[in-house]
Amino acid sequence: MKIVIGSDHGGYELKQEVMDHLKKRGIEVVDVGCYSAESCDYPVYAKPVTEAIQNGDADLGILICGTGIGMSMAANKEKGIRAALCHDTFSAKATREHNNANILCMGARVVGPGLALMIIDTFIDTPFSNDERHIRRISYYS
Ligand code: RB5
Repeated sequence: MKIVIGSDHGGYELKQEVMDHLKKRGIEVVDVGCYSAESCDYPVYAKPVTEAIQNGDADLGILICGTGIGMSMAANKEKGIRAALCHDTFSAKATREHNNANILCMGARVVGPGLALMIIDTFIDTPFSNDERHIRRISYYS
């Protein structure tokens, strides 16, 4: 499992915690930035994450900003990207099973690190259901 991760300044601190957590789990992590808490523009960091997914360079992506909203809007403009904004574990599980989401977006100003790590674990540990009805529904927009 290889994960590509990006954030803006609003998500920088949580990104560092998420990377530590993933590495402790033995998961390979590619960090595309940002690399400090200095103010920056979230679309700049959404782009390399979506490209890594499109190119098959990573299995799943994580994008963190203050709300997760800007990151999800930017990521979902890109072909083949199914970015899900999740702040609870039910949604994180359902979006993998039903939508085959390939990027998880979160807002660091919305959830604390404890819940964020549970959401991330749920997202990466849940496989796509491969149900015909879900494949059909995804095909409308992929
Ligand atoms: C930055 O202040 C904030 O706008 C950004 O992190 C994000 O929440 C945008 O959607």
